[in-house]
Order: sequence, then C-alpha cells, then structure tokens
Amino acid sequence: RILIIDFGSQVTQLIARRVRESGVYSEIHPFNLVTDELLDEYAPKGIILSGGPASVTWEESPRAPKKVFEMGIPVLGICYGQQTMMQQLGGLVETSEHHEFGRAFVDVNKECAIFKGVWEVGAKEQVWMSHGDRVTKLAPGFNVVATSEGAPYAAVANEEKQFYAVQFHPEVVHTPHGAQLIENFTHAVCGCSGDWTMAAFKEQAIEAVRKQVGDKKVICGLSGGVDSSVVAVLLHEAIGEQLTCVFVDTGFMRQGEAEEVVTLFRDHYNIKLVHKDASAQFFDALGDEYDPEKKRKTIGGLFIDVFEAEAKAIGGADFLAQGTLYPDVIESVSFVGGPSVTIKSHHNVGGLPERMDMKLVEPLRELFKDEVRELGKELGLPEKFVGRHPFPGPGLAIRIPGQPLSAELCDILRKADAIYLEEIRNAGLYDAIWQAFAVLLPVRTVGVMGDARTYEFVCALRAVTSTDGMTADYYHFDHEFLARVSNRIINEVRGINRVVYDCTSKPPGTIEWE
Ligand code: XMP
Repeated sequence: RILIIDFGSQVTQLIARRVRESGVYSEIHPFNLVTDELLDEYAPKGIILSGGPASVTWEESPRAPKKVFEMGIPVLGICYGQQTMMQQLGGLVETSEHHEFGRAFVDVNKECAIFKGVWEVGAKEQVWMSHGDRVTKLAPGFNVVATSEGAPYAAVANEEKQFYAVQFHPEVVHTPHGAQLIENFTHAVCGCSGDWTMAAFKEQAIEAVRKQVGDKKVICGLSGGVDSSVVAVLLHEAIGEQLTCVFVDTGFMRQGEAEEVVTLFRDHYNIKLVHKDASAQFFDALGDEYDPEKKRKTIGGLFIDVFEAEAKAIGGADFLAQGTLYPDVIESVSFVGGPSVTIKSHHNVGGLPERMDMKLVEPLRELFKDEVRELGKELGLPEKFVGRHPFPGPGLAIRIPGQPLSAELCDILRKADAIYLEEIRNAGLYDAIWQAFAVLLPVRTVGVMGDARTYEFVCALRAVTSTDGMTADYYHFDHEFLARVSNRIINEVRGINRVVYDCTSKPPGTIEWE
C-alpha cells in the first residue's frame, strides 16, 4: 500500500483516486500527523508527497518527516512535494518570476522508471502546472529527466534511491498520461501488485464503520438517491440492527419512488426503516409561496424538523450517517499559529448534526460519484438505484415554477415526468443523459382535441449532458423521439395540452428551472 502525505492541495484526493485506479490501496494523511510511529506501523511500499498552497521558502513551511527519506522505499514528490523533497535533501527552491499555471509542455530528456512505456526520450508531452516557486538547484544524487519553459527541473529523479519528483500534476486529467505515470510508480517502482479492488474498499469501509461506531446507534437519512442508498446498505452490512434509516417523504418525489424505496430497503434488505409521509406538512408550510429560494428554505428547514422529530421518536442515536462525497468536502490546511488541519464539509442535511448533537459517519468521503456507483454495485444494489440521475432535495417543488404548489399540480407533473423517463429508458438513452425531467409551466395555452377547445398547461422537457453538473449542454434528441414523448404526454396526461423542449445550455441557463 501507498501512503499519501497531504500538504493541503485541492487535488490530493485525485492522487488517491489514481492510485486506487491502479489497483493499489492508499491512504491520505495530513503531513503534521505523520509520525515516525505511523510510518513504521503503516509500512507503506511507497510514499507520495502531495502539492500544497505553502511555499518552502517560508520559515515555518510544512515538511515531510525526515524518516520518509530514510526508510529505503520509493518516494514521489508532486509540486510542493517536489520542492520540499529537494530542499530537505540539500537542493534549493526559489520564488520564481516565471509562474506557470495551466497547460504546459515538458521535454523528456532522460529515461526514467516512472516514464517507462509512456514517455519516450525526446518527446514533448502535455502536463498541467500550477506553481509559483521552482527548484533552482538539485539535491545531490538527482538528475533532470524532463524540463519545461518555466521549470528547468520539471521532473527529476534519483533512480538509485528511487526518489522521483515532478513539478507538474500527474493526477489531473489535463496531464493526459499522468495516470500511467502514477501507475508506473505504484507498480514498477514500488512493486505493488495492482489487485486491490472496490470489493476490498467495501471490506475496509465496513471495518472502519464498525471501529468508529462500536455498539452505538446510527441514524441515516435515506432519500432513494445513489449516495444515501449506498451509505444505508454499507452501514447495514457493517452494523445491522444498530442502524435505523429515516425516509422523509416530502410529497415531491417522482412517480412510484417512495414505494420503491420502502420495498427495496425494508422488504429486500430488511433494514429498519421509518417511512414518514410528511407531504401534508410540506404543502401546509409552503402555502401560496412560489419564490424559488423561499421554497427551498422552507422545504430544507421543515425537512430538518421532521427528521429530528422522527429521530427522537425512535429514541435518538449517537451517530448520523451521511453520504458526503469527496467533492462536497473542502479540506484546507491552515498554517496560521503552527500547522493544524481544519476540515470543512458541506452537510447534505445542513446543521442537523450540530443541532442534534450527533457525531458523523461519512463512509463515502474519499470517493467520487462514479466510484460510489461502483461500490453500490459491489453491495448488490440494483442498477436502477446505482445508475440513477441526480434528483434535487426539494424535488418536484422546484419544477413547478411561478405558481403556488398543490397536490393536483404535482400529480400532473409526476405523470408527464414518468412518461418522459419511460420513453428515455425505452430508447436506451438513460445512461447517456446526466439528468432528464419535466417542468410544469404556469402558462395555459389554447389547443384543440377532438372537436373541442382545450385550455391547459404547458409542459417543458429538459435533458442535459454533463460530467459534474457545473456545466451542461442540452441533449440533442432526434425529432421523432420528441414527437413521440409529446404525443404521449398530451394524450395521457389530463391538464397538459402542449409540450416544448428546452435547448438551453448551462451557462447561461441552470439545469433546474428554479
Ligand atoms: P442547477 O439547476 O443549479 O443544478 O444547474 C445543478 C445540479 O444540482 C441539483 N440541484 C439541487 N440539488 N437541492 C439539491 O439537492 C437543491 O436545492 C438543488 N438545486 C439544484 C440539480 O438537480 C442538478 O443536478
């Protein structure tokens, strides 16, 4: 296994991800918590030093423990990791006039174990740089193996000691062959076998939960989304009866969704599940409100109230389980007043743990969405659950813009949405789309059905492709498909007599309409 020593880079988790992808287990430890004992106990086959926001030219800048370089194992330094390695081993680092941010090219000028089979001597390779400081004098025993315009020591190596250090970031996708460089390090250099899998992650995560929780009780908010579903099943495998899931049904779920959640988790998995149908409360609380932000606030606040009341009703719990993923976690290493690590995280159910005085169990904290899906498959969750499109917490309530919500409007939307999604699945397009849904507009238009005049609502269809929800393009359906969906919705859903397709990308639009 590989130890990653974190100096606070925003992309340290990507290093862990690349190491995992090479089939090798790794753990990230903040630099100030890596003691000599930890190094002995962990006994890594190799160590990676991450990037970080500090400058080694500062007096109190973070350092790798001296022992790292004395254990006789391979070490790879990345960006700040390179700089501290050089300085600690007798080289020199200076703040450079020539900053390099973003895409850069390196000239490969010497063979090196981590380039093997990937980068040839003489090649010019694209990398991603982000640095202000640079190495200006090599530590003894090192050779330059690649250079760039802004970093004459873009990659350096002491092959005898198996120390490698790069100024660029091999862990990001903008360094196209970066993943292979990391695999060369873990396999060829460190000698790891590469047989570690998500199945092994599952076992480790289960062990970690057992260790953290002991014989205490855990409560988990279940929404039917991928993340909370995976957390629930993982925890159930780990601690069985100590887990209770609470499913707060806001009334803004899609067609059949509430039943599906209850059937799968209660009947199939045998998980203790409280199903609270709170739809009447949610409609009451919203009243005539139609301002999007006020709706969100009201729904979020009431959700917490209902969840808390249900938790109390079952006698409370010591832990709250959350499906926090890595992208939700912002980790920052603070150097003010000596090195200390502050970890801020975005809670899915904001404020709940503090209010209820519960500790958090977050077994997915290190994973990215696609890894969570893989873990879900490993846990035997049905494809329908692990492959689900994202669905916002406020649900259908933010898909009926411009008018007060009612159960009747929600029903109309639910039916149209179900037809749309059914057609998408039938056409085999579900997995090619990031998110697809129907929106019920507050506009009535005139139509003619049979010989009669109709005056009903307009339904807008939305479908987007995206990789992270931050930017998106509208999905380019063929016209036959759109005609089929439009036809079915107008014929089968009373209350809608016109269907339009939203062809706005994000930006300037957002994915949801509110
Ligand atoms: P937008 O509409 O901002 O959406 O482009 C980006 C992604 O976030 C989801 N979304 C939400 N999720 N609560 C949530 O849990 C919300 O209030 C919310 N608003 C948007 C949206 O569905 C899309 O996946």
